[in-house]
Amino acid sequence: MNVSSILSSLTLHSDPNSPIYPFKTFAYDASKAALNAFTIHLAYELRDSKIKVNSAHPGWVKTEMGGPNATMEVSEGGKTSAQLATLADDGPSGGFFHLGQPLPW
Ligand SMILES: NC(=O)c1ccc[n+]([C@@H]2O[C@H](COP(=O)([O-])OP(=O)(O)OC[C@H]3O[C@@H](n4cnc5c(N)ncnc54)[C@H](OP(=O)(O)O)[C@@H]3O)[C@@H](O)[C@H]2O)c1
Repeated sequence: MNVSSILSSLTLHSDPNSPIYPFKTFAYDASKAALNAFTIHLAYELRDSKIKVNSAHPGWVKTEMGGPNATMEVSEGGKTSAQLATLADDGPSGGFFHLGQPLPW
């Protein structure tokens, strides 16, 4: 499980109607997009094993980075990571998720 961010999404960054459209923090966004590429490539390499590889968007969480105006408490911010770390044998691999919902790359 790789801790990514919705700010990695090229699809949402290129959509003027997306809520993240104005948040162009290039170094951060590009590093998370690269992490997502690693997720896809590692999932491919491990496709014949029991190991699943996915990217997580924790949400906007009240941490030092997220700041006090974030919408999620720290206890909630761990949920997506915990879900992806405890997937069933038939769970997904090579995807990008927030609270069980797929996000666009
Ligand atoms: N908070 C959000 O809203 C949000 C949203 C989307 C994604 N994320 C992702 O969630 C993850 C956790 O973020 P967070 O909100 O918990 O951030 P945070 O409160 O700023 O904590 C970042 C953590 O990373 C450690 N760190 C920073 N630079 C490091 C380095 N060079 N080597 C080793 N450790 C380093 C810090 O250690 P020290 O305490 O020792 O400095 C700190 O423990 C990150 O990957 C972030 O991109 C967060």
